[in-house]
Amino acid sequence: MLIKDVFVQSNQKIAENTFLLKVNAEEYIPYVKPGQFFNIKVNNNSYPLLRRPFSISDVEGDSILFMYKVVGEGTRILANKVVGDQINILGPLGNQFSINESSNHVILIGGGIGIAPFPYLIKQLPNSVKYSVLFGVRTEKEVHSYGLKNILYSSDDGTVGIKGNTIELLDIHLKQIAEKDVKIFACGPNPMLKALQEYTNNKNIECEVSMESAMACGFGICQGCPIENKDNNYKLICKDGPVFNIRDIMI
Ligand SMILES: Cc1cc2nc3c(=O)[nH]c(=O)nc-3n(C[C@H](O)[C@H](O)[C@H](O)COP(=O)(O)OP(=O)(O)OC[C@H]3O[C@@H](n4cnc5c(N)ncnc54)[C@H](O)[C@@H]3O)c2cc1C
Ligand code: FES
Repeated sequence: MLIKDVFVQSNQKIAENTFLLKVNAEEYIPYVKPGQFFNIKVNNNSYPLLRRPFSISDVEGDSILFMYKVVGEGTRILANKVVGDQINILGPLGNQFSINESSNHVILIGGGIGIAPFPYLIKQLPNSVKYSVLFGVRTEKEVHSYGLKNILYSSDDGTVGIKGNTIELLDIHLKQIAEKDVKIFACGPNPMLKALQEYTNNKNIECEVSMESAMACGFGICQGCPIENKDNNYKLICKDGPVFNIRDIMI
């Protein structure tokens, strides 16, 4: 884990309220794993006080890319960064998706900005593994394909892909690929992950999910990001996660 000021190399809008931030981060590259995140100080003054967590979205040469959605003050500040600005990043933090224990076919499910960790994960998948991406959006304006291939969409308003949610899309897709040895990696809003938990439990499909929480420290000190596990104990999303086997947690 390193803490360092890095320079913004680009900060591009890629869809409605969605940006891709590229920073030079040479020292970090040997250590980053798909599913891990950085805790980012978005300003060089003390406002906002807390860092904001963002998944590693991609790695290009000596650079790390973060894909983010503007939802509040911290992400609004980030969206105003221009080339040459400095931000302070702490990481890499957390565990990773277990890509090396993958199956014949991996299905990546991203709900909205939950798609963020997948461009880097795709690059790290073993060549022998087939994959597909199920991208759920509210509307067509949220669509982009940065770092993604083999994409199927679902949308709430039917403007792109099937009209419906990602679980309905998953159900259709599983019938189409007719593959038994499937593993799912997913990230998105809690209601989507809860529905996915019920679906994968019923069908007995392996699934790992990346969970979100408000965070302060990001590495296990403040106890501010608990998640209940199936044994009625608590794990910390920042340190024991953010990636969990969907069978092990209460969503
Ligand atoms: C491990 C981890 C990885 C993450 N990776 C990414 C990522 O790659 N890209 C990304 O865009 N976001 C990611 N997030 C979420 C991101 O950290 C928050 O969106 C961000 O902290 C919001 O900061 P803010 O100051 O803009 O909003 P705040 O001012 O903190 O919040 C503004 C409003 O947005 C709501 N809000 C806060 N967080 C979220 C959220 N996660 N989803 C929906 N609404 C929210 C708040 O409830 C509030 O209403 C991740 C979170 C975690 C825990
Ligand atoms: S954010 Fe501090 S323990 Fe998880």
